[in-house]
Amino acid sequence: MGRAVRHSLIVGAVALGLMAAVSPAATAAPVSVFSPGAAGDGDPYFPDMGNGGYDVSHYDIKLAFSPTTHAISATTTISARATQNLSRFDLDFLGPLKISKLSVNGRRAAFKRTGAQELVITPPHGLRRGSKFVVSVSYAGVPSKIDDPALGISGWVATKDGAVALNQPIGAATYYPVNDTTRDKATYSQTVNVPNGLTVLANGEPGPVTKRGGRTTFRWKMNQPMASELSMLAIGKYNVTRGVLRDGRPNITAIGQSIDTVAGQGKVLNKTTAQVVEWEQTLYGRYPFASTGGIIGDVGVHYALETQGRPVYDQRSSKVSGDLLAHELGHQWFGDSLTPARWSDIWLNEGFATYSEWLYQEKFNGVPVQQSFNEAYAGEKDWTGKVADPGRDQIFDDLVYTRGALTLHALRLKIGDKAFFTLLKSWPTTHRHSNVSTQDFITYVEHQTHRDLTPFFNTWLYQPGKPKL
Ligand code: TRP
Ligand code: ZN
Repeated sequence: MGRAVRHSLIVGAVALGLMAAVSPAATAAPVSVFSPGAAGDGDPYFPDMGNGGYDVSHYDIKLAFSPTTHAISATTTISARATQNLSRFDLDFLGPLKISKLSVNGRRAAFKRTGAQELVITPPHGLRRGSKFVVSVSYAGVPSKIDDPALGISGWVATKDGAVALNQPIGAATYYPVNDTTRDKATYSQTVNVPNGLTVLANGEPGPVTKRGGRTTFRWKMNQPMASELSMLAIGKYNVTRGVLRDGRPNITAIGQSIDTVAGQGKVLNKTTAQVVEWEQTLYGRYPFASTGGIIGDVGVHYALETQGRPVYDQRSSKVSGDLLAHELGHQWFGDSLTPARWSDIWLNEGFATYSEWLYQEKFNGVPVQQSFNEAYAGEKDWTGKVADPGRDQIFDDLVYTRGALTLHALRLKIGDKAFFTLLKSWPTTHRHSNVSTQDFITYVEHQTHRDLTPFFNTWLYQPGKPKL
């Protein structure tokens, strides 16, 4: 405690000197002290998610998995930078996993777990604003998935021969400590050790696969910024197909061996993935990641997910579905490279991904986009909610998907094809690897088109009721 007081006094004196030089008004502020980082990132739908006071640059997840017990044993090392003088800070960490060891900058740190998902860490010394620090957490146990009545299954999902982790929106903390907010993107390395015979897939590019003592270690790296909700891990018996995009970037796809309905579709999944990515690049600009692919797994969650660089399809139908691929791969621009600032902005993901399906239907199946629009406009029954603020339990509702896409097409009809397709490319290109809000989008479109579109967007995005055409 004595140390903490001395520390804060010195910093206080320095801060006061600085403030006096920069801003006279600020001298009225209290001496700079070290205070706790916030326990949430301020998302109205998910107030506990994410944390304040620091910014993560990298996650290094090292994990061993046992298919007989379904247990993991892991060490996750987080590199971060303090954005305030921190006396303590939180990570999000959920469920039954037991922490055996926790250090900050190599020194044991006190921690306790509170509330639904807070891992509260008090380092031996305060962390000065702007300083880099490293948190290392070792833990073990059998992770449990989340089954939310409105949001479905997410997190670590046990499968017949392994596990699949799908983390949108709240699953990541079921198997690693994380700043679980879309607004703190980071690079990732995932190193996963499994018994020989099992395969591991994850986001990004593979590193060396090594064998020792009857076990195999797989290494994967995602070198572009990634939101935790888009991180992914698949362990099990998979048939892997390797291809490339035209520019040589790897295209790695896999199909779970237990899914006999799509057995033999390995080449089709790989080829269709490349075809869709190449085509979407012509519409949305250069594909934002260093590799692509996809995984068809026996997950049982009843949705597909746009996990970064390599979507996961929980699909048992007998055919690889091109328009589903167009949706999840379209998300790589809209949702992954550009992630929503708040979960209320999720129509910026789903509207564009659904519009990708309509564009795919036109290009590859001869169904005009206008026809998809007409059918959706005529057939949509639920016009009650707000597209750009649907509510926590409605983020995956049809309202967000269909009316999101309807909004984009209505915009196209209003501003014309030339302006619309220019936007479709420049919006994701300009905001690559960043966060975006609905207001950012409206401002951007108005600026690009030199039009006042506020009434239009109000009607389509914020007013309940069926907009007139
Ligand atoms: N975001 C996914 C997609 O559109 C779908 C999804 C994820 C979902 N979690 C869900 C749908 C929960 C329904 C319920 O590709
Ligand atoms: Zn989607």
